[in-house]
Amino acid sequence: MQMTRRQALTLVAATVATPALSAPRRISLRPEAVETTVVGRRLPMLAFNGQVPGPEIRLRQGNAAHIRLDNGLDDGALVHWHGLRVPNRMDGVNVLTQDVVIPGESFDYRFDVPVAGTYWYHSHYLSYEQVSRGLFGAFIVEERDPPEVDHDITVQLFDMLLDADGQPDDSFDPSQFATAGRLGNVKLAILSRDRVRLGDRLRLRFINPSIDRIYRLELSGLDGRIVALDGMPLEAPQALGPIVLAPGQRCDVIADVTGDVTLRDTYYGADDLLGRIALDGERPRSRADIPRLPANRVAQPGRPAAVAMLDLQGGAGAPAHPGTGTWALNDTSGLPAEPLLSVRRGTTVRIEIVNQTNFPHVMHLHGHHFYEITQKGQFGPKRDSTLLAEGETRSIIAVLDNPGRWMLHCHMLSHQADGMATWLAVS
Ligand code: C2O
Ligand code: CU
Repeated sequence: MQMTRRQALTLVAATVATPALSAPRRISLRPEAVETTVVGRRLPMLAFNGQVPGPEIRLRQGNAAHIRLDNGLDDGALVHWHGLRVPNRMDGVNVLTQDVVIPGESFDYRFDVPVAGTYWYHSHYLSYEQVSRGLFGAFIVEERDPPEVDHDITVQLFDMLLDADGQPDDSFDPSQFATAGRLGNVKLAILSRDRVRLGDRLRLRFINPSIDRIYRLELSGLDGRIVALDGMPLEAPQALGPIVLAPGQRCDVIADVTGDVTLRDTYYGADDLLGRIALDGERPRSRADIPRLPANRVAQPGRPAAVAMLDLQGGAGAPAHPGTGTWALNDTSGLPAEPLLSVRRGTTVRIEIVNQTNFPHVMHLHGHHFYEITQKGQFGPKRDSTLLAEGETRSIIAVLDNPGRWMLHCHMLSHQADGMATWLAVS
């Protein structure tokens, strides 16, 4: 069931999120059931520290994070630090890396953040439900030498499915699981700041924490460039055209304000206003070029020493597969007993992903970034989540240099819940 423009209750009021937690030292995250304002109305949600999104965590490159998860839910809890290269036991994945934290218990996540970029954190337990009910937040690692901007603004694209009474839909209609997922009928951009001056230079950090929705963002009132994808700086910043962001993906833009700033979503043939940034004053526009972000130091791939095929299968209208769920990877639904690949630390691997289904999927690898390989066989951008259209094939190349058991799954969280998950082992 796809949302038509008329059904969409698009909310124009850009919600301003609560301020960032700075000066790390100790951060505490307490997920709890609360009633709070989100998508413009009071709703029963699950929230970290009482707020949706959860508090923005903002550290400086090279800092250490010490984050205590203190479970205030009536259910299990786990937090995954999406895109951050953490030690495996800090990765927050049930079965593969840790046990679920039971109600009333806590868990200490400790890791360093040597790599700058735009990341996020979210529940990794019953995540299609817990993330859609609010358990997510931004995780920003500032460069040692950040580019000069007037404002650094985080933008989280969120949707929710509300029922006829305006309450969060919890029917979990099975048809949603066999198609594009549980797409909301309310969507908006949650901005950390919604006023700027004409002429200001902005850094915008877009994050898509929606469980299943892909956005095609069109920005107006900005003149600038796309400078990073999934936290990783682009060697050559790209023109600021429409930005497709699948669940889990991020994008950084540096741009000067040239007029009223609006954010529209034009995916699924829609044209919906997600939010706006109002003008308040004026300053002379900077004459400096839009800077490139300093490169992140990550391992350079060698010749792939291992190759795996990964077939994405299942869903409405696709041939049957032997897996037990709606969706499957290589004939298996859910985490298989054996990893897709098992390699020694430092091995370069290639994975050929073939989308045999009638729907798009966004495949996310934990603990590493990988290169998307372009049609011409060249190295494309480094990402941690890659979007494949229906019928599409994509090669990715990664240096698996972080030891442990790493999940590789579709970040459309209802697809993950219903079968699309596997893992890699690095020893
Ligand atoms: Cu953002 Cu396995 O997740
Ligand atoms: Cu999927």
